[in-house]
Amino acid sequence: MYFLAIESSCDETAAAVFTDSREVLSNVVASQADLHARFGGVVPEIASRAHLRNLLPVLEEALAQARITLSDIGCVAVHHTPGLVGSLLIGVSAAKILAVALEVPLIAVNHVAAHIYACRLAAKREIFPCVGLVVSGGHTALFDCDSALNMRFLGGTRDDAAGEAFDKVAAILGLGFPGGPAVEREARHGNPYAYAFPRAFLDSERLEFSFSGLKTAVLYACHGQNLSRAQPVEPGPRRADLAASFQEAVVEVLVEKCRQALQQTGRGVLAVGGGVSANQRFREQLQQLCEEEGVELAIPPPTLCTDNAAMAALAVEKWYAKDFAPPDLDAEPNFL
Ligand code: KG4
Ligand code: ZN
Repeated sequence: MYFLAIESSCDETAAAVFTDSREVLSNVVASQADLHARFGGVVPEIASRAHLRNLLPVLEEALAQARITLSDIGCVAVHHTPGLVGSLLIGVSAAKILAVALEVPLIAVNHVAAHIYACRLAAKREIFPCVGLVVSGGHTALFDCDSALNMRFLGGTRDDAAGEAFDKVAAILGLGFPGGPAVEREARHGNPYAYAFPRAFLDSERLEFSFSGLKTAVLYACHGQNLSRAQPVEPGPRRADLAASFQEAVVEVLVEKCRQALQQTGRGVLAVGGGVSANQRFREQLQQLCEEEGVELAIPPPTLCTDNAAMAALAVEKWYAKDFAPPDLDAEPNFL
């Protein structure tokens, strides 16, 4: 059976085709990064309008790459929460219309849970029960996952998400948007111990994060506290050291909170998803953590870490559980 899935929660318009045995036949992503770059972040109305323009071509491409037509589709899946409401509405509307027109069931998928499910998809075997970490532009949250359909929230960020901190620090350092990959590239030439940036809640057992103080510390390290005299940070060793030291602080906090979550839950698998998990330094440190703790690391390749519609294959689990969306399904911007 073929599933057609749609993702439009933020600034990526995406569609995927997969089967009821979780085989991904196509995974098409149209990035809007170029449209938002000059604003230094995602502009919601521009994102919604771009989804409106891109969605049909992306759907057609997903079907073409899978070598099927709409009439082959047996179920439609869509990320309906969380995200930018105007962006979500485009994908949810399209999915509802497709499901009605094709007379097939509609399945609503939580985008954050889907980031963890990307680990299951990539592993091609069971990874549950596990500890799940989602670390993206909108979320930094730990879950105790009994199964794909039962994820208990353990704790999250009190302020900025880790990816948001990468984006904001990239702006401070003049590295452009999206910030994560740019900071990672800059950090390769820097000394990660040049600046002792704060690592929030490291001494606490609580599974919480905070990145806004770290972002401010980078700002002050760049410009001093008199921001009215702020000069752009010049390319060179100092900028590379700032990027590397910032990245190291984020990575260390994320890794140590995963260690605490593994120890507190006793789970034998750590699943990590979301855009920040594309970061190579983070992946290396996670690998080391899992070796030290004697647990298995489930982490997707970078294309399944950042936003995509294939991770909505969580819908396959919902299909077997007969968990279908109601006809009045709405977009929900907040994380439930
Ligand atoms: O999961 P995602 O594509 O979208 C959301 O659901 O938010 O994550 C996007 C975030 C952005 O903040 C981006 O800067 C960050 O992931 N990101 C990275 C890297 N690639 C993407 N952060 C650090 N290193 C990377 N290589
Ligand atoms: Zn995401």
